[in-house]
Amino acid sequence: MKNIFCETFGVQIPIIQAGMVWCSGWKLASAVSEAGGLGVLGAGSMNIETLQYHIKKCQARTLKPFAVNLPLLYPHTEAHVASIIAARVPVVITSAGNPSTYTSALKSAGCRVMHVVSSTKFALKAQQAGVDAVIGEGFEAGGHNGREETTTLCLIPELVKQLTVPIVAAGGIACGRSMLAAVGMGACAVQVGSRFATAEESSAHRQFKEAVIKAQEGDTDLIIKAITPTRMLKNSLYQRLKNAENQGADRQTLSELLGRGRSKLGIFEGNLDEGELEIGQVAASIKQIQSAKVILEDIWQDFLAHKANLLKNWI
Ligand SMILES: Cc1cc2nc3c(=O)[nH]c(=O)nc-3n(C[C@H](O)[C@H](O)[C@H](O)COP(=O)(O)O)c2cc1C
Repeated sequence: MKNIFCETFGVQIPIIQAGMVWCSGWKLASAVSEAGGLGVLGAGSMNIETLQYHIKKCQARTLKPFAVNLPLLYPHTEAHVASIIAARVPVVITSAGNPSTYTSALKSAGCRVMHVVSSTKFALKAQQAGVDAVIGEGFEAGGHNGREETTTLCLIPELVKQLTVPIVAAGGIACGRSMLAAVGMGACAVQVGSRFATAEESSAHRQFKEAVIKAQEGDTDLIIKAITPTRMLKNSLYQRLKNAENQGADRQTLSELLGRGRSKLGIFEGNLDEGELEIGQVAASIKQIQSAKVILEDIWQDFLAHKANLLKNWI
């Protein structure tokens, strides 16, 4: 089964494994691409040498297309773009910045480009910048998010109505039913983050993955809006930040409280009290650590089964 997403990006299954700091290195990305989805390296937690290493390893493991996720907020972004172009990475997913800065350079070098947005306003800017597809990420999603708090259910139909480029849905999608809902809203593919963060091949710490598996409804929250709105698991660090936020702390106070390296501490080093444990609302429905291939096939087969049965019992 093929659609515009599969044709544009050269994959068999219209599921993107999201780029995620401290989770998505070559092991995860190549496993997803080999299984037919679009695997993504998360460059946000990589310096230039590390990114080059992960691209090489990914290319050695799979001949199928994979992508690099490039958050546009780091000082080394230009050098990352040069490495991506030199290594002939087929797809780039930019996020957290202005899509017009690098889209045309990447496209001239032969890359396909997608950009992640959390609002219609930025989606229109991304389309104007010439991206091949826009990824709409709702308020449910793990990690950095939009200030508007627009849910996936509200965002995707608007993007489909107002844009002409293909739309990918992200945020709260971890099974075939939610993928089917996204497709029902007009998306041609989905980007899945939280569920792949717990995959066997994810480089996240075992303790982080187990904390996600244990999470219940209501265990995540979106906070630190004055710095970068971020959805994370509730722990000691979260509580200190939330208390400060409730007392009206300004950007500088929150930044000092947060300090540096918190996502590495939590996700990669497994410090469940003091680390920033980025994960989405859908954590409550993730029940086991599985291989990337099993996760991809489970979502896809579940999607196909529910699609076949859709509206069967309607009269
Ligand atoms: C642990 C974690 C790290 C993330 N890091 C990034 C990142 O580096 N760049 C980015 O664009 N999005 C990042 N995200 C967001 C994902 O790319 C994705 O859009 C989101 O997880 C989708 O929602 P879901 O978590 O409900 O599946 C991260 C998400 C998680 C859970």
